[in-house]
Amino acid sequence: MKGTDYFREFLGVKVLDAKDGYAKVSMQIAKEHTNSVGMTHGGVVFALADCAFAEAVNFGEKQAVAVQVGINFLKPSVEGDVLTAEAVRISEGKTFALCDVKVSKGDRLIASFSGLAYKLQPEKPSSNSQ
Ligand SMILES: CC(C)(COP(=O)(O)OP(=O)(O)OC[C@H]1O[C@@H](n2cnc3c(N)ncnc32)[C@H](O)[C@@H]1OP(=O)(O)O)[C@@H](O)C(=O)NCCC(=O)NCCS
Repeated sequence: MKGTDYFREFLGVKVLDAKDGYAKVSMQIAKEHTNSVGMTHGGVVFALADCAFAEAVNFGEKQAVAVQVGINFLKPSVEGDVLTAEAVRISEGKTFALCDVKVSKGDRLIASFSGLAYKLQPEKPSSNSQ
């Protein structure tokens, strides 16, 4: 990915693997990531999935932004758990790329995320430029 994802760094998310259309990331859940019911905050699980999604669709020189995402939180996780998120691009066109992201704790599926990204087109030289 070009540039620095400061929010990913802030969360302590590690990139384990990344290639065009695929990424695997992980993080350990700390107390600061939990909510009032003692579970991992849904926003943290979402952010982890979003990080994997971003790595998969922004590989190399490619740049894309999310336009629609959805998530189902299937199982809870807690402080100390190590979660991984694996993004797989399942469709790519000229304009949009669609990814499935699975968030897991070991073999246990914690959340299922789907993200649609708009692919930013490289800027064309202005017709006024010389
Ligand atoms: C919403 C939810 C409770 C519905 O559960 P369900 O459809 O009945 O699913 P399951 O029967 O497979 O239960 C999944 C797990 O939820 C937890 N769970 C279910 N009912 C529970 C209850 N009454 N109290 C506490 N935990 C419960 C258990 O950990 C359970 O795992 P187990 O069966 O291995 O013990 C479950 O999907 C869930 O906990 N999702 C995660 C929610 C989440 O983390 N949201 C973001 C932060 S609020």
